[in-house]
Amino acid sequence: MSNTNRLRIAIQKSGRLSKDCQDLLKQIGVKLNLREQRLIAHSTNMPIDVLRVRDDDIPGLVMDGVCDLGIVGENVLVESQAERQNQQQNADVITLSKLDFGFCRLALAWPQELGEQSKDWFEGKRIATTYPEILKQYLKRENISASAVMLTGSVEVAPRAGLADAICDLVSTGATLEANGLMQGETILESNACLIQNPALQDPEKLALIEKLMPRLKGVKQAKE
Ligand code: PRP
Ligand code: ZN
Ligand code: MG
Repeated sequence: MSNTNRLRIAIQKSGRLSKDCQDLLKQIGVKLNLREQRLIAHSTNMPIDVLRVRDDDIPGLVMDGVCDLGIVGENVLVESQAERQNQQQNADVITLSKLDFGFCRLALAWPQELGEQSKDWFEGKRIATTYPEILKQYLKRENISASAVMLTGSVEVAPRAGLADAICDLVSTGATLEANGLMQGETILESNACLIQNPALQDPEKLALIEKLMPRLKGVKQAKE
């Protein structure tokens, strides 16, 4: 449980969501002193601390109550939930809001030189991914027997490196697939950033602060529409 009486928000330290997360906090009036490599940034105008961590760690930190809130891509959230459910660990969060950034899709891709392929092609293949649980659920649903090869990074080089036949990775602009000579196939999951809360949060002051911030967040979203 978080042992301070300051509201703790987990955001991605560096990656696709970091800049938008920092901008959002600023737009809803949370002043931060985000200095260089600091893990924790204290707000100068509200009882809020921002923890900057790896995106993959955010769902677990919120589920375990180490942080009260978190901003994370649905892709990472869904994968963590599946993983924790497998281990009989608590995987509950409250999704307070979907945010209007971090849009991407988790899609299958394979070497371009193979040309268009149907689902049957995946039978018996090895698919590299950072999202093995989401991929396994998809393969099961589609009745395809292929194996998931877990890689935490550089998934896009796996086919060329001979580690896998295909990949299942996040696609945003498509530049990474293009640069690695991969052809995009079916989308397994559409995703964007969302704001999550620990469902066990009970501190009345923290809850009141969240209540105060939510309309501001809504206002920022509407202003951008
Ligand atoms: C994803 C994915 C690709 C890239 C795709 O990585 O793994 O590397 O984004 O984006 P593009 O289609 O615009 O080229 P992400 O930024 O989520 O970082 P991570 O893999 O380190 O978590
Ligand atoms: Zn990541
Ligand atoms: Mg990547």
